[in-house]
Amino acid sequence: MVVRALESGHVPELILCDEASLPSLTAHADRLATTTVVVADEATRRSATGLAVALSVVGLFPKPATLELDHLLANNDRVVALAQVDNPTNVGAIVRSAAAFGFTGLILDGESSDPFARRALRVAMGTTFDLSIARVTSAAMMFAALRTRNFETYAMTPSPAAVALDDVRPGSRVALMLGSERSGLTDEWMQPATHRVRIPMAAGVDSLNVAAAAAVACYGLTRRNG
Ligand SMILES: C[S@@+](CC[C@H](N)C(=O)[O-])C[C@H]1O[C@@H](n2cnc3c(N)ncnc32)[C@H](O)[C@@H]1O
Repeated sequence: MVVRALESGHVPELILCDEASLPSLTAHADRLATTTVVVADEATRRSATGLAVALSVVGLFPKPATLELDHLLANNDRVVALAQVDNPTNVGAIVRSAAAFGFTGLILDGESSDPFARRALRVAMGTTFDLSIARVTSAAMMFAALRTRNFETYAMTPSPAAVALDDVRPGSRVALMLGSERSGLTDEWMQPATHRVRIPMAAGVDSLNVAAAAAVACYGLTRRNG
């Protein structure tokens, strides 16, 4: 994960590593000019992270700043927007699917988990470092900004009234919206969306886990856009 962060251009303040990992860091020497690199024994690396295992490389990075929404929308054509997704494991898994299927922006409401929380980062396998991320405080302002930037918005819902994913032909600017594990997307997020989209399921199944829905939807919209 430290190497992924370095490859994405992030500069650590401190690295603790074992002797064997030093050569893998030298490829990134230009990024490490201002970094304190310490070869540390197993006990030190274990206590630095608080994990049961001593990772071979531990990095301390400043947390990347979130972007202004308009800046994010100006520079990314495919974004995922999360409302009340408050489980960091789900956020990490969604980030990983987004990155895998070419979604490069992530918009979070105030109740969604921090994608840089340790659990979220680990589940995302470091793909978080390549995403542009913004937080919004108002759904109405987010939809206005998306409209101004010519995004079509796809609110994902298991509702039978929604259009099946197979029948969706996405536009060139796509915002995929996913909601809470408990109650799904609120009206504030659902009503203004240009499309309400469902992933068809077997009878009797209430819904997919939000991260599973994100993987299917990111893939579905990517496949049809190619
Ligand atoms: C566990 S579901 C929420 C279930 C909630 N009862 C509802 O009606 O939305 C969490 C999120 O995953 C997405 N989701 C889950 N199953 C889906 C499906 N079959 N089709 C489209 N989206 C789905 C939706 O965005 C939903 O807000």
